Amino acid sequence: RNMADPRAEPTFLAVKPDGVQRGLVGEIISRFRKLGYQLVAGKFVWPSKDLLHDHYAELSSKPFFPGLIEYMSSGPVFAMVWEGTDVVSVGRKTIGATNPRKSPIGTIRGDLAIDVGRNICYGSESVGTAEREIALWFTTDEVASYDLARRIGFI
Ligand code: TYD
Repeated sequence: RNMADPRAEPTFLAVKPDGVQRGLVGEIISRFRKLGYQLVAGKFVWPSKDLLHDHYAELSSKPFFPGLIEYMSSGPVFAMVWEGTDVVSVGRKTIGATNPRKSPIGTIRGDLAIDVGRNICYGSESVGTAEREIALWFTTDEVASYDLARRIGFI
């Protein structure tokens, strides 16, 4: 826990393969920086289907699951860890609705996407899932936050 701000928390965010291919990594980083959040880890990963099955385990029975795995494994994603006050809920609000066409203008998906199957970015749903996802996608030496590494149990 960040002693300077007890409400500070981590989230896992990822620019999906379509967002990377469309050159939107900088745009998405910029929106979170302008909110005042801190980027504490980031890397390109071409995710394996095993990693994606783990990441999206809760959705494995959904009809769109096979298509989701194909899409997410179609190229590199930009995986990130961000920290700050209420970053999970503010991050979800900033990303917008699952269906970009139902997502308000001003949100990342509302401004930059039109297709639910190509909705350009991912954000954790809770602090609990964020911690699980950070441990799944990152190792200790990739996370530039001592508090977070300790919290996740890396150190
Ligand atoms: P979900 O976790 O419900 O949405 P979110 O990404 O907003 O947290 O679904 C995960 C992804 O699955 C979603 O980003 C896009 C894909 N998906 C579809 O392709 N079709 C659908 O009908 C739904 C609900 C999701």
